[in-house]
Amino acid sequence: MARITLRGISKNFGKTRVLNSIDLEIADGEFLTLLGPSGCGKTTILRIIAGLEAQTAGDVEIDDTVVNEVRPSRRDLAMVFQTYALYPHLTVRQNLTTPLLLRDLGFWERLPLIGALIPSSRAKKQALAAVVREAAKTLEIDHLLERKPGQLSGGQQQRVALGRAMVRKPVAFLMDEPLSNLDAALRVHMRAELVGLHRTLGTTFIYVTHDQVEALTMSDRMVVIMDGNILQVGAPNEVYENPQDRRVAEFVGSPKINILPGECDSSGRLSCLGVALARRLERPANGSFTIGLRPEHLELGPKNRSGCFVGRLNYVENLGSDIHLHIALNDGANNIVARVKPYEAQDAAIGDEVWIGLDRGKAMAFGADGQRLALISNKKSEQVS
Ligand SMILES: Nc1ncnc2c1ncn2[C@@H]1O[C@H](COP(=O)(O)OP(=O)(O)OP(=O)(O)O)[C@@H](O)[C@H]1O
Ligand SMILES: [Mg+2]
Repeated sequence: MARITLRGISKNFGKTRVLNSIDLEIADGEFLTLLGPSGCGKTTILRIIAGLEAQTAGDVEIDDTVVNEVRPSRRDLAMVFQTYALYPHLTVRQNLTTPLLLRDLGFWERLPLIGALIPSSRAKKQALAAVVREAAKTLEIDHLLERKPGQLSGGQQQRVALGRAMVRKPVAFLMDEPLSNLDAALRVHMRAELVGLHRTLGTTFIYVTHDQVEALTMSDRMVVIMDGNILQVGAPNEVYENPQDRRVAEFVGSPKINILPGECDSSGRLSCLGVALARRLERPANGSFTIGLRPEHLELGPKNRSGCFVGRLNYVENLGSDIHLHIALNDGANNIVARVKPYEAQDAAIGDEVWIGLDRGKAMAFGADGQRLALISNKKSEQVS
């Protein structure tokens, strides 16, 4: 097991900077997710940790040792890729065993005929077979050991790829979107399996994804990355409920947070499209600012109620347990999405004029630069966000 630290990691490809002085400490045994849109630098970070890519500046430390000059095979890390990269002509057993044979046996010991005459070779092969059996049992693929990858489902192939990483007993697993080739149902299943595997092994997992649901559901902490910068690091619920940057608020959460223009009076009391909020700005805003309202903090209100947004229902997305209402507001400039329960929306029809109430204490405010603005409750002078 290992603690992994990145200090001031930057990476340029030619003249293009793709990572910008990344500082990150991953605790021993932690399940940490790197989340961000395509091209933000997630794979590059993982490859730098693994030693497959050299950083332009900064240090990678494993426990207390700087490993910048240490070859990938000596870092004791295992990488699991999106494409499982299994050997198609070998059985599952051979796929699991081959990396160990290459690592643990000498050239002569590996040869089939000569190797059989060397006593140390036989003992080592028996030990390897036991490790492979144990991993196969943990991953429940022990009945598939004689099959070839082409005879396995996507989920089973993914388990073999995990098994191949596991048998090496690495100090940390580096996983690059390992579930993205699976269908939706299997992905949900494998998420739970991976969390279970992490609990069983207790090894550090660094998991790359652009799927916020994976990051929110699986990790101890998540790191939101955009354009080669870390925007926020925190526990999933903290990042969701308390995004420190508008880009984080917009990236994490589905449906996406509603962003609307904000207004305030001379004492900082906030309103949004004429609806007063129960908060005021702690400090006067520097220029224009926006209000963020999560779809679940909106509700379908009775008609003609005050303190509501008014608009026309454009589209209804029925997800079974939730309904997403897409509304074009009457100001003609803004659209919002409300997430409501089916019984609340049963009478709503496309084209209806709707009144949308909001949980006025849940609004967030973001400055022109995207940074979260501190708010104070209108009632008490306590800081609320
Ligand atoms: N070998 C390379 N040469 C030049 N540019 C590269 C190279 N590898 C990656 N890049 C660029 O670096 C940036 C970050 O790439 P990276 O693969 O780390 O992104 P990512 O976050 O993993 O994206 P995705 O979610 O699509 O996998 C991208 O703009 C990419 O085009
Ligand atoms: Mg990638």
